[in-house]
Amino acid sequence: MDKFVIDGGRRLQGSVTISGAKNASLALMPTCLLAPGIYHLRNTPNNRDVWTFSRLLGSLGVHAELNGNTLFLDSSNITSYEAPYEHVKKMRASIYVLGPLLARFGQARVSLPGGCNFGPRPVDLHLKGLERLGATIEVEGGYIIATAPKGRLQGAHFHFDISSVGASVNILMAAVLAEGHTTLTNVALEPEVTALARMLVKMGAKIEGIGTTTLEIDGVDTMHPTDEETIPDRIEAATYLIAAAATKGDVLVRNVNPYHLTAVIQALEDSGAELDVNADTIRISMAEDPKPVDIATAPYPGYPTDAQAQWAAYMLHCTGAARVRDHIYPTRFGYVSELIRLGAKIDTDEGQCVVFGGSKLTGATVMSSDLRASASLVIAAMMAEGQSEILRVYHIDRGYENIEARLTAMGASIRREQTEEY
Ligand code: UD1
Repeated sequence: MDKFVIDGGRRLQGSVTISGAKNASLALMPTCLLAPGIYHLRNTPNNRDVWTFSRLLGSLGVHAELNGNTLFLDSSNITSYEAPYEHVKKMRASIYVLGPLLARFGQARVSLPGGCNFGPRPVDLHLKGLERLGATIEVEGGYIIATAPKGRLQGAHFHFDISSVGASVNILMAAVLAEGHTTLTNVALEPEVTALARMLVKMGAKIEGIGTTTLEIDGVDTMHPTDEETIPDRIEAATYLIAAAATKGDVLVRNVNPYHLTAVIQALEDSGAELDVNADTIRISMAEDPKPVDIATAPYPGYPTDAQAQWAAYMLHCTGAARVRDHIYPTRFGYVSELIRLGAKIDTDEGQCVVFGGSKLTGATVMSSDLRASASLVIAAMMAEGQSEILRVYHIDRGYENIEARLTAMGASIRREQTEEY
């Protein structure tokens, strides 16, 4: 088990280059199940979730190899249609193999993901959408068993009741090989969904309306492999931008798409940070304590739920009180009790917390409970006086490539150590 030891009170200064988007990679990787052959996915982040997904694809017969940041996939010999519990329990996005396996082979067996550290995360929409495309779905022994009765899914109209990234990804991958025309409405607008749609078109899919909430898809009989470059990780970028502001630093963030970060940029500017936004870089500097800025998460282009915990940490030094609401995952506040261990004053209520700025933060031992909660703790520990230890950093390794090296290069004091503590 690894932990981080952080000596707080240092400004971040310098530059950081953002990796490819974890959530986009997880959507792009299963496309290799739609057409046999060789794929190269450039700008793939070298993080734990990518390794887990590679192993899952490996268990289906795909040869997956990450060389630097290029992921090589060879899906010429698929040998299994089953995503076992051992993979799905580590990463819910494992359910992304369901749509493409079913579309191409007419059958799939995928373990049902359980809850997670920020509450129940159902997959009902994924299943409803596939049923709408003609699939028969049974749940047995903890597994989703899906079949396409005539061996092939059938085009249909499906409306997503809730804007869901995962369900949009899964149903889109299923629809591209379905027979006939599919209309999907209320499709999630997140850039990761758009990135997937673009890659599918390169593979021969016929999709109209990319980048909007309505996709019109004409099913094709076969598709072909392609190479693709993964978009920059907007959540990693948001984390470094917030960390820079939280430490009153001055940082150039490279390899970003600022259009994907509008809500975060606006919140940072409202808090008093200076931002210089260019085509693919953002420079941020902050000289004083931030003004309090309330945020409320919303589907893209709203403020992302994956960056709300980091915002709460930043607001610990604000000149007042700031409300952080999460409409997408109302119980995603497990990190609050750990911030309180560092001296934070935060009240929680249903679906929100109120952060009172100005309390003195001092180093303590705290525990990560999920990926973005860990990022919040790292930021708070860098703001605190003295030394902190952050336990269970395997959570942060799921989505941040080399975070300690990147922060160290910008002047932070953060090191990874092995620990017996769990
Ligand atoms: C994805 C992201 C995750 C992010 C989340 C919201 C990946 C791998 N993960 O997760 O980092 O926090 O989007 O931006 O990209 N819902 C249902 N039924 C379903 C599916 C979802 O009710 O079948 C609800 C969820 O409980 C949630 C909302 O829809 O309240 C949005 O969730 P969704 O966009 O599906 O999240 P994920 O795709 O799991």
